This record gives sequence, structure tokens and C-alpha cells, in this order.
Amino acid sequence: MTQTFTRMDESTQEQWAQIGAETVKRQEHGGELVLAMLRSLARITDGFATDQLTHCLQTATRAERAGADRDVVIAALCHDIGKAVSVPNHPAIAAEILKPYVRDEVYWMIRVHQDFQGRHYYHHFGQDPEAREKYRGEPWFDLAAKFADEWDQLSFDPDYDTEPLEHFEPLVNEVFAQPHMM
Ligand SMILES: [Fe+2]
Repeated sequence: MTQTFTRMDESTQEQWAQIGAETVKRQEHGGELVLAMLRSLARITDGFATDQLTHCLQTATRAERAGADRDVVIAALCHDIGKAVSVPNHPAIAAEILKPYVRDEVYWMIRVHQDFQGRHYYHHFGQDPEAREKYRGEPWFDLAAKFADEWDQLSFDPDYDTEPLEHFEPLVNEVFAQPHMM
């Protein structure tokens, strides 16, 4: 280990090159933490018919079986991963975790997914079920609608033939090893 700095204003270019190289190497194992977060969702049920890991797996299974591409499937799998930390802002947490690994429209699909889901339950909370309308015209509007209406909102079914986490593990490890930006 090379001698490195104790305060940034004394750092050198060489030290930053080493930090960069080690960061890239560690990032190759990014999937391990994501898988651990997903597994932790099995402890969250909160009155739903399935736990949150099953819900995420089922959403991804439906997306994959519908022919969705890699970015959409990984996002479907991780869309509620933020609930491992905090339910109120879970869409933002999940979207930011996914951001360096998926294309922009898929980031937005997750960032706003709660307002698209709202069509199916916001009326129970006195909120506008058509909250999605504020995004009408966005290039990702139809994708976000498809995600909510055809995959996410349907995926609380304990009897559905849901793929296990092992099915998605290679994809998680592959995607989270290679951020588009560092
Ligand atoms: Fe969901």
C-alpha cells in the first residue's frame, strides 16, 4: 500500500490514480450488496399477500416473460429495493441505485413508479389516481405505464409461478459490475 494522504488538499495525482483503480476493482462486486438488499426484502410483508422480495421477483418475472430487455428486467427486480431502507422515498432510492447501470428512460420508469401505480390505489388515500398525467408527453411515459399496469401492480400473487432470486443472480452480478459512469 502506497503512502497516501490524510487530507485532500495534500493529495497527488498518483494517489488518485490508485484510489480510482481500487474503486473500479471493488465495484466489480457491486452485485453482492444489491443481492443482500434484495434478500432483506423477504422480511418485509407489511400486510401484503406476498413479501417484498417475492413482489420484486414476480415483477421481474412478468417483465422478462413479456420480452422486456435487460435494463427493464434488472430495474423491475430492484424497483422496490429502496424499501429496505425507507418506504416513503423508496422510488428515489431505487432509481438512484440503478442510475449508473440503466438507460435514462428506465431510470425514470423507476423514479416515478409510485405515481403510475397510483391509478390502482391512490383513491384509497384521497390522492389523485391520475397523478401520472403530470408526466404525459415524456418519452418514457408509455414504458412507465406498462411497468405499473402490466407488471408491478399485478405482482402480489402468492400462487404465481415466480422465478427465484437465483434465476436473476447472474444478471445482477453482471449489471452491477459495470457502471456506465464512475
Ligand atoms: Fe412494486
